[in-house]
Amino acid sequence: MSPCSEVKKYEPLETAHTMSFNFLSEVPYLEPDAIFALTAQFKEDESACKVNLGQGTYRDGNGQPWVLESVKRAKEFIRDSGHEYLPILGLKRFRSSCSKILFGTDSSIVVDNRVATSQAVSGTGSIHLAAVFLARCYSTSHHVYISDPSWSNHAAVFRTAGFPVEKYPYLDNDSGGLAFSKLLESLKVCSEGSIFVLHACAHNPTGLDPSEKQWRQIAAIMKERNLFPIFDAAYLGFNSGSFDTDSWAIRYFFHEMDFSGIVCMSFSKNMGLYGERVGCVQVVTKSPEQARNVESVLESLQRAEISNPPAFGARIADAILANEDLKLQWKEDMLTMAHRIRNMRELLVDCLELEKAPGSWDHISNQSGMFGFLGLTESTVNELKKTHHIYMAANSRISIAGLNESNTRYVAKCIAAVLSGKQNLPLD
Ligand code: LMR
Repeated sequence: MSPCSEVKKYEPLETAHTMSFNFLSEVPYLEPDAIFALTAQFKEDESACKVNLGQGTYRDGNGQPWVLESVKRAKEFIRDSGHEYLPILGLKRFRSSCSKILFGTDSSIVVDNRVATSQAVSGTGSIHLAAVFLARCYSTSHHVYISDPSWSNHAAVFRTAGFPVEKYPYLDNDSGGLAFSKLLESLKVCSEGSIFVLHACAHNPTGLDPSEKQWRQIAAIMKERNLFPIFDAAYLGFNSGSFDTDSWAIRYFFHEMDFSGIVCMSFSKNMGLYGERVGCVQVVTKSPEQARNVESVLESLQRAEISNPPAFGARIADAILANEDLKLQWKEDMLTMAHRIRNMRELLVDCLELEKAPGSWDHISNQSGMFGFLGLTESTVNELKKTHHIYMAANSRISIAGLNESNTRYVAKCIAAVLSGKQNLPLD
């Protein structure tokens, strides 16, 4: 039997009861997902000064969700597209546009048809499809390595697909920078053939990305040791404002270093299509035959799981990617979001210094993208929530997009007050 025809099952929970129909009485209560629970708590908070720096969703200067101009215009284009099913692999032109913007229309990957693609249910769905594909066609005896720390869902998705998940060093807690030599060491000592989940840019949660020189070093060792790359590409264009700049590491791996591997694209952040769940998996192979076969497996897996992907958001993304005017508008929209976030990052550091918040805040200036990793203890984070109605992830990751001209000084003042052990906020 080829590995692709083996039927893989989800791992049962440890408490699963296989011998009795009373198993429902044994089902444990699992804690809700922390970041979604935080959003729910924020919504229930009735304080007028509450600030949500939790979930990574873009907000405009007034703290409101922002519908991109390109998205508004694209919705006009797709008004009459009906309600029929999409094909199992999703919208064909959208998938092909994804490969073209990612690798380049004239790249050998695209021209030689070496990439297998499937539309997927945003970033999580893309990573999930990649994981079940690897479980089916590679082997769950390989370890999946995720960064330490990483986005909380990475471990959950790969464990659900049956993989043992390990961590590679990423954040140096002392300096607040990248633990680069430890990261390289982990690439050298892990088993050959291991799977590495890499953040293409705007690392979640730390906001720290390797430099181009560091990516080159990472790629060289991964190539030599036969390590399989999966890029989580959730922030392309959203990080720097340029899709090309943010795709640098991906292009380096697949063009210059000729890797086979997977890219999981999401359009939640860079198009602001959070609830529409638009994503695309790209599996780069060595030949059109390999790509055809891989695509057939993706299709069969997708059919068994969701039958076919949702249409509305994919039609919006497709309209933007296929129309030069809309694409130009989209590029402007990404710049608008990236610039506002960069300005708020600078403002936060200025305010923390102005408020004489104990400690050094340079590390925040050295991070980029949607998130800032403050380096506060969990008790400080809890105190900020309880006393000052400021919500952030327990590891002190903040979504910089939640900051604006009206609330940043308040946030900095509260951080300074909590760190200095003050009960009340100092008056201006
Ligand atoms: C986040 O990290 O806050 C976002 O990517 C939302 C999520 O699904 O966790």
